Amino acid sequence: MLPGERPAIRLSDVSKTYGAKGESTVRALNGVTLGFATGSFTAVMGPSGSGKSTLLHCASGLDRPTSGTVYLQDCDLATLDEAALTRLRRCRIGFIFQSFNLLPTLTVRQNVTLPLELAGRSIDAAAVRRLLGVLGLSDRMDHLPGQLSGGQQQRAAIARAVLTEPAVIFADEPTGALDGTAAREVLRLIQRTVREWGRTVVMVTHDPVAASYAQRVVFLANGEVADTMEAPTAAAVAAAMARLGGLPAGS
Ligand SMILES: Nc1ncnc2c1ncn2[C@@H]1O[C@H](COP(=O)(O)OP(=O)(O)O)[C@@H](O)[C@H]1O
Ligand SMILES: [Mg+2]
Repeated sequence: MLPGERPAIRLSDVSKTYGAKGESTVRALNGVTLGFATGSFTAVMGPSGSGKSTLLHCASGLDRPTSGTVYLQDCDLATLDEAALTRLRRCRIGFIFQSFNLLPTLTVRQNVTLPLELAGRSIDAAAVRRLLGVLGLSDRMDHLPGQLSGGQQQRAAIARAVLTEPAVIFADEPTGALDGTAAREVLRLIQRTVREWGRTVVMVTHDPVAASYAQRVVFLANGEVADTMEAPTAAAVAAAMARLGGLPAGS
């Protein structure tokens, strides 16, 4: 993060231990301190088991750290009870999952507006149409997810994630289920949400090419921040991953 920038989200000395005290405990995160500037696009990488999912769950309020603090803008998540945390996730955090997680019985338009409905917020039908148009889904608004390609489903999930204008969007392997062309399209659209709409994105990925779309890569190893890289290229990311002992699949 550059000095003076207001972080959208900040982790301060965050640790997460799974399991009761004893032999079986796993320290999934160990003293992680990281800031994510408003309007930035960060990829999180690391070998399997390095703590990427745990980081994402703790940062997004899906799980609570064992120690340390997570601030969303100025809010310390530890001060919120479960109901308040659920409201915060609904209103101020967007999620994009590898498996899209669209509701199969709702149309694209209904899926996209669901978080606003759940939050009791008003829906601007023209804004929804415009957004779906930008994402190339104008003629798919009234289709069910099952009638869409993987790439189209993920673009609908992007629409759902950005419509609430969240403080942060967390994406967990958003291109993991897509072929190369659809993956590039989705990555370009995620990039656009940052560059044109000022959204903040934190994306977990195994793929150095996907990571190269971000402005910065944070590398985790054994639950700690092992390295960070600004203006990543796919080759530099792949080399850094190889040094961490987590060669990407197929290389
Ligand atoms: N619910 C859990 N209970 C026990 N151990 C867990 C749990 N979730 C993750 N772990 C362990 O924590 C470590 C980090 O896991 P995870 O955050 O899923 O890593 P990554 O997403 O980088 O593969 C791993 O050793 C994993 O086995
Ligand atoms: Mg994981």
